[in-house]
Amino acid sequence: VSQPVNVTVTGAAGQIGYALLFRIASGQLLGADTPVRLRLLEVPQAVKAAEGTAMELDDCAFPLLAGIDIHDDATAAFDGANVALLVGARPRAAGMERGDLLSANGGIFGPQGAAINAGAASDVRVLVVGNPANTNAWIAAQHAPDVPADRFTAMTRLDHNRALAQLAARTGSTLEDIRRVAIWGNHSATQYPDLTHATIGFRPALEVVDDEAWVRDTFIPTVAKRGAAIIEARGASSAASAANAAIDHVHTWVHGTPEGDWTSAGVVSDGSYGVPEGLVSSFPVTSSGGEWRIVPDLDVDDFSRERIDASVAELVEEREAVRSLGLV
Ligand code: NAI
Repeated sequence: VSQPVNVTVTGAAGQIGYALLFRIASGQLLGADTPVRLRLLEVPQAVKAAEGTAMELDDCAFPLLAGIDIHDDATAAFDGANVALLVGARPRAAGMERGDLLSANGGIFGPQGAAINAGAASDVRVLVVGNPANTNAWIAAQHAPDVPADRFTAMTRLDHNRALAQLAARTGSTLEDIRRVAIWGNHSATQYPDLTHATIGFRPALEVVDDEAWVRDTFIPTVAKRGAAIIEARGASSAASAANAAIDHVHTWVHGTPEGDWTSAGVVSDGSYGVPEGLVSSFPVTSSGGEWRIVPDLDVDDFSRERIDASVAELVEEREAVRSLGLV
């Protein structure tokens, strides 16, 4: 058994935090050989609730849980962090303008990026879940000049998993048979869930589906608007599925993608596929040796081009708004 890995989780007392922490402590994030020390970050008024969750974590007697610290100070919470899950964010309140939302989140993710820069472990890997996730990850990276930018990622794995589930249900196939689904762009309603490279049992998925209108008018909007549909049905936003996707994202980052398949993640663009360099955008990615790689040289048809460009344009707008607000 190795040394404990420090896993910092922000927004620990929130609903995703509650679905996430027990799975991390049970070994599902990093594997059954890796003990973890949890570092929870919350706002002062939620520290007591985080303490309650920590009591329950104790009561699970997880063999891999080496300790829990609770903080309301980012510098302390990220000190020595090997994995940082940035879940806590400012939600969009009714009537809130995008500028206000970006400002409020810039005020969270800028200082957290600086705290990561100041004290995180040299191997730190950061996943931003809190929305607007791509732009929050970009803001954090801008405040962490000493951390390689590719350590900052944003979560689109939930969108990816939603796409897998919709495709399996439509085609009556098992999830193991589906490969090479991709999510491009922003984790927002403009995202592009792409089946043009997907296969089902090694046949092109589009050939198995054989219904262009379903892909365009049902599949894409169902995946892109699934978050709103969950709120409508559950009266609260996705939490367990979001926590599950965060576990998947980090597990894949650390342990790699299977041969012949890929996944989706918001990573810093290297300029591939016409996505401006430096933006945190979702791409089809593989992972090996603890590093993401954007899948190279895919053909992008006209419809895909249009959809990718539209979502990337939204990311560019968010970045420009953050710059004009003086948040970076
Ligand atoms: P929640 O409101 O239940 O919990 C958020 C927690 O963050 C609260 O306990 C709050 O006190 C805490 N928090 C706020 N500011 C903080 C700060 N500066 N430092 C530390 N903690 C802070 O929200 P929930 O449902 O857990 O969702 C969290 C975020 O995840 C939201 O922004 C949500 O939109 C996003 N989300 C992203 C998804 C994705 O696919 N990328 C999917 C689902 C949710």
